[in-house]
Amino acid sequence: MKSLENKVAIVTGAGRGIGRGIALAYGREGAKVVVASRTKSTVEDVAKEIRDAGGEAIGVACDVGQRDQVFACVQKAVETYGTVHILVNNAQGFGTEDSPQPSTVFMACEDTDENEWEYTFRTGATASLWFMKAVFPHMKKQNYGKIINFASSSGQMGFPGNTCYNSTKEAIRALTRTAANEWGQYGITVNVINPALETRAFDAWKTARPDFVEALKERIPMRRLGDPEKDAGPLAVFLASPGSDYMTGGTFMLEGGMHTLP
Ligand SMILES: NC(=O)c1ccc[n+]([C@@H]2O[C@H](COP(=O)([O-])OP(=O)(O)OC[C@H]3O[C@@H](n4cnc5c(N)ncnc54)[C@H](OP(=O)(O)O)[C@@H]3O)[C@@H](O)[C@H]2O)c1
Repeated sequence: MKSLENKVAIVTGAGRGIGRGIALAYGREGAKVVVASRTKSTVEDVAKEIRDAGGEAIGVACDVGQRDQVFACVQKAVETYGTVHILVNNAQGFGTEDSPQPSTVFMACEDTDENEWEYTFRTGATASLWFMKAVFPHMKKQNYGKIINFASSSGQMGFPGNTCYNSTKEAIRALTRTAANEWGQYGITVNVINPALETRAFDAWKTARPDFVEALKERIPMRRLGDPEKDAGPLAVFLASPGSDYMTGGTFMLEGGMHTLP
């Protein structure tokens, strides 16, 4: 018996990077996977990869910064597979709606661009809340649900230059603890993963701030950046499977021990 057999999972930001790694791992563990990101071709490709490996998946084009698209994505999952057991809120926008960026760009706190603040929050904390609201009735009804949100060590440590990103990521952790407190009585766990993994977003951050990021990478206790498939898959599967049913409200550090740095 695979650990996610007969479970329905939505993974946002699953066209590449960490979301893709998690979607593939869920497919291997027997979940029916809704692969969601903005770009239709990439979500279709990842869904096909899952089906080609013997799993079940559909691709859904969804911009998490658009409320109607979030609710439509959950509706599509329910129409196709009957319910939702697992939600992974992994997508996160950077920059502004008019000028999206592949990662954060250094901006002093006092110069914070309020359009960036709004867009970063809308595609981060607000999008996570929208998805959680949309899946909640289904999870409550079946007295079972697994929600995994994504934050960052950058927010916890307060990396300079990342004001908007740090703030929305810490809001996501507060949202997670609050929902964990309220929804535990319905058999729903809500947890956070804080990753440091080699992805396009990480590479873009490295390109924008090479000295800062290289120095950081060298100081990671494990002396490497994690892999979105090999390192993210197992933890995301565990947090979505019955083995973690008594764990909620937590932040799981998937960053090679980086949080131990002074
Ligand atoms: N990589 C790291 O080391 C690291 C560190 C700390 C936190 N994180 C967090 O981990 C999560 C995943 O990051 P990643 O490194 O895997 O990023 P990534 O490689 O850039 O992938 C991001 C994915 O999200 C999708 N996406 C972006 N904006 C979206 C939107 N508005 N609506 C729907 N999908 C959207 C992208 O596809 P489309 O462009 O097709 O939509 C892509 O599939 C993020 O929450 C990030 O903040 C990552």
